[in-house]
Amino acid sequence: MEPTRKAGLDVAPVEGRRVLLRVDFNVPLTTDGEIRDDSRIRASLPTIQELSARGASVVLVTHLGRPNGVPVPALSTAPLAAHLGRLLNQLVAYCPEVVGEEADQMARLLRPGDLLMLENVRFWPEEETNDPIFSAQLASLADIYVDDAFGTAHRAHASTEGVAHLLPAYAGRLMQTELEQLGRILDNPAHPLLAIMGGSKLSTKLGVIRHLLPLVDTLCLGGAMAATFLKASGLEVGLSLVEPDFVATALDLARDAEAGGAAIELPLDVVVAPDAGAPASRVQVCDAGRMPASGMLLDVGPKTVARWSELVTTSGTVVWNGPLGVYENPLFATGTRGLAEAIANSGAISVTGGGDLQAAIQSFGLAAGFTHISTGGGATLEFLEGRELPGVAALLDAKPLPGDG
Ligand code: 3PG
Repeated sequence: MEPTRKAGLDVAPVEGRRVLLRVDFNVPLTTDGEIRDDSRIRASLPTIQELSARGASVVLVTHLGRPNGVPVPALSTAPLAAHLGRLLNQLVAYCPEVVGEEADQMARLLRPGDLLMLENVRFWPEEETNDPIFSAQLASLADIYVDDAFGTAHRAHASTEGVAHLLPAYAGRLMQTELEQLGRILDNPAHPLLAIMGGSKLSTKLGVIRHLLPLVDTLCLGGAMAATFLKASGLEVGLSLVEPDFVATALDLARDAEAGGAAIELPLDVVVAPDAGAPASRVQVCDAGRMPASGMLLDVGPKTVARWSELVTTSGTVVWNGPLGVYENPLFATGTRGLAEAIANSGAISVTGGGDLQAAIQSFGLAAGFTHISTGGGATLEFLEGRELPGVAALLDAKPLPGDG
């Protein structure tokens, strides 16, 4: 696959221009509406600061949640504008509209360096239908479009795709970093390449596993989805969440791996309990082949962590998607934490993504040990599946570098 290179801020003539900046500030909120994790906002600060410092007037647009085309006050972007203002120590104006007279006027009043945040673009149904008139209205707010919303690049919406065809469209700093870091897993990884997949369902990771299998040297499978593979190998998996329709698929994948020379590693031992809410007294560690009929696989065990950590230390690149257990409960967080520690302390290039795993690594205080933690969830998976993301495809291509083909 050809590397994805898009024209970025280094070549975007933003000085003195109005820039429509698509960010993905779709952050998790507490039940009280507080921002629970502002990583996605912080990840776009370099782009915002650079645009402002270079004298662009910046009109920020994002979605928040899934309001399905109607205004939902709890999902307004007003608190996001205030939060961004606090992070930057700079006024961020807020507009209660996205298109129309008020948005137009507020955008026109901006001076070089000023920041304006529009309302949640998904309050307008035209966003998700990628309505051409709505895209044109958005485009009329600015001279240049910059897309930093990697996390939403798999959506062909008006603010991620439609508008990119109407203005000169550049990748922001975060977008470029994501494309480079995830791109090198697919294009030019340092070998041995170790992929670790976790999470609850094999069905949601199948596309990534199929795409990565011919590229990797070793694939480790943890999380609840490992139970489907263990079942396929003929082992007793008790109450574990097996996807019966995918047992045959698991066998096919194992055969494909063998034919292609990749090793598949399943957990050697597991942490089981009757359910994820069970008390510590009901939790036990057992070999993967000896799961009790009343037990559910909720984490990988210490032998597995030791084995996979050893693989990490001899790998050139590690790509990891999905936690190895129900990490939100400390009883079932040991596997995810142990492997995160091994990766953070290794010399391997480490790229990880997916909302849950990012939250887990951050909660362990290990984020700084990773080469790249992707801000994408679905977008990261689709990228690793080798699919073209519409929000990326619509951006201007970078000029070839000297020496390129
Ligand atoms: C995400 O959180 O994965 C992105 O912001 C996209 O959100 P969506 O799945 O609601 O389109």
